[in-house]
Amino acid sequence: MSQQDPRVVWHAHAVTGAERRRLMGHRGCVIWFTGLSGSGKSTLANAVDAKLVARGIHTFLLDGDNIRHGLCAGPNLLTQEHGEDFAQRFGLGFGPLDREENIRRIGAVAQLFAAAGLVTLTAFVSPYRRDRQRVRRWVESQGQSGDFVEVYVDAPLEICEQRDPKGLYKLAREGKITNFTGISDPYEPPTNPEITVPAAHRAPDDLADQVIEYLFATGPFSKEQLR
Ligand code: ADX
Repeated sequence: MSQQDPRVVWHAHAVTGAERRRLMGHRGCVIWFTGLSGSGKSTLANAVDAKLVARGIHTFLLDGDNIRHGLCAGPNLLTQEHGEDFAQRFGLGFGPLDREENIRRIGAVAQLFAAAGLVTLTAFVSPYRRDRQRVRRWVESQGQSGDFVEVYVDAPLEICEQRDPKGLYKLAREGKITNFTGISDPYEPPTNPEITVPAAHRAPDDLADQVIEYLFATGPFSKEQLR
């Protein structure tokens, strides 16, 4: 922020966060699911989402595979509408810089959703610790400590590879797709996540209950957080 362009000036909002919280009945926050492809992030995030909505919580889920059709589309999706140069410059693949930008964009959007008062769930591989930590810092700097809840969806590579729901591990092993997390690219597990779920050992519904319990005990809906 220190080298901000002088033409770009922050403008304070007329409606305060407190007013939005009163309207919503809870704080907005970011619940960040991270883990290998096939670990069950999307299934779990959807289950948590459904349980929260059933309890009258205002939520939205940002899911990696879906966001990569729009905000973070790859070059192939952008070429027809925007041309080759644009697609190459702004389209995102799976190289380290592409993933960094993917997570930066999602982090920025998730923070805005949280500021709008929504409990914002995100399901991205987000393999790099530094990228996730940047999002945490950004979200907390715009809100408060506790607004970023990291959920490590912990499933061993062998299990994810056995499941291989999209057939991508097979393609990665055959060398038909490059930079594949866990095979030809690293995954850096969180060192200090708020929640770790044993995704290979328990049913998604049980894991969702584990997340819900944490959120209601210490998270954005606890009375102290509402002020
Ligand atoms: S992230 O690493 O930048 O956070 P993101 O969650 O958006 O990844 O997208 C991951 C999804 O894209 C995976 O679930 C998988 O379906 C697909 N995918 C395609 N290629 C790769 C790859 N090289 N590495 C990981 N996931 C890939």
